[in-house]
Parts: sequence; structure tokens; C-alpha cells
Amino acid sequence: MASILVLYYSVGGSVRRMAELLAEGVERVPGAAAVLRTVPRVSTRIGGQENAIPEKGPPYAELEDLEACAGLALGSPTRFGNMAAPLKHFLDGSGLLWQRGALAGKPACVFTSTGTLHGGQETTLLSMMLPLLHHGMLVMGLPYTQPELNATRAGGTPYGASHFAGLGDDQPVGDDERTLCIAQGRRLAEVALRLSRA
Ligand SMILES: Cc1cc2nc3c(=O)[nH]c(=O)nc-3n(C[C@H](O)[C@H](O)[C@H](O)COP(=O)(O)O)c2cc1C
Repeated sequence: MASILVLYYSVGGSVRRMAELLAEGVERVPGAAAVLRTVPRVSTRIGGQENAIPEKGPPYAELEDLEACAGLALGSPTRFGNMAAPLKHFLDGSGLLWQRGALAGKPACVFTSTGTLHGGQETTLLSMMLPLLHHGMLVMGLPYTQPELNATRAGGTPYGASHFAGLGDDQPVGDDERTLCIAQGRRLAEVALRLSRA
């Protein structure tokens, strides 16, 4: 089985829903299995403590999850046009993996959700690719052979799946966005399997 890590951070649930859809796409590929993981909040309170395990949802990711995966899908809400600090914090702790080239050659993709339509989906997606490229990962986008990329009136970019959640973070993932999430997970799993068999 090729294990595909779907690693995300989500507060309002939009990116979590996208992660579940990407995982659905992964699971549609025979021989691939999705592993959902999240990261804890970063506490800025002096002496502040976060729960050691999540109250609900998938477990927190360990560096071993990164090392063990055959492919990685990385999802974050857009925060001021960039990825959220907790996810960046987790990646900043992956220096030892980088030194060993442990992720080099593995396929990866990124996805995000925003409150506003032009609030930085593409900048976030591109900035999320940077640490993955430093790790030597093979970063994949979404091709325009997916007709939803041309049709969408909400999220969905060639840089990765995205979702326009609205200012209240209350818009459901639309049909085109949903199809693109599933297609992205599926594509990642297919490429990971091909690479692992090569
Ligand atoms: C501190 C902060 C910064 C944000 N920055 C942006 C932004 O730059 N552009 C945008 O459109 N939405 C922004 N948002 C809204 C979130 O990206 C949006 O609500 C997203 O769907 C949240 O995902 P989640 O439900 O998975 O937590 C921001 C939200 C917060 C709390």
C-alpha cells in the first residue's frame, strides 16, 4: 500500500472538509491509502499549553508520518495571503528530514481555503510549495484537463485545490471545488504509486 499523508490545519472546518475530499480521492486509487493528520495550534500565551492530543478529528502529525508517506497533500487556511503559522511551525521542525533528504523525490500537492474570493488563494498555494521544493519534493498542480478549472465561479486553481468559504467561513464546498479536491487526491495517489513502482 502507498500511504498518502493528507496533512492540514483548520479552525473553522473548511480546510478539514477539503482534506477529507482529497483523502476520498486518494482512496479511489487501488493500492493507495490516505492518512489524515493535523497540527496543533501555536500558543502565544506565556506558559500557555495546548492539548497533547486533538479534542476531535485525526491525530497530530509526527515527523515520522512525513518520512513514511509515499506522497503528501498539504492544506492550510489562508492567513494574510500565506499559510497558517501552526503548519509552518510543523514544517520548520523538519530540518533533520531535510538534512537526510528524506522527502526528496516524493510527490506533493497543496490546497487552501479563503474567506474572500481574491484574498490570496494563489499566493498561499505558491508559498506552501516553497518548503516542499526545498525538501526536494515533486510538487504537482492541477491540470486544465479538469474541466472544472474553467467552469468554477469559486475556488479551484492550477496551483492546487481551493475553496471560497465566505467571510463567515460558512459556505459549503461547491461542486466544482469538491470535484477538484477529489481529483487532486486521486492524481497524487496515482503518481505516488507510479513512482514507487518505477
Ligand atoms: C488571522 C486570519 C487571517 C486571514 N487572512 C485571510 C486572507 O488573507 N485572505 C482571505 O481571503 N481570508 C483570510 N482569512 C480567512 C480564512 O482564510 C478562511 O476563513 C478560511 O476558510 C479558514 O479555513 P478553516 O475553516 O479551515 O479554518 C483569515 C483568517 C484569519 C483568522
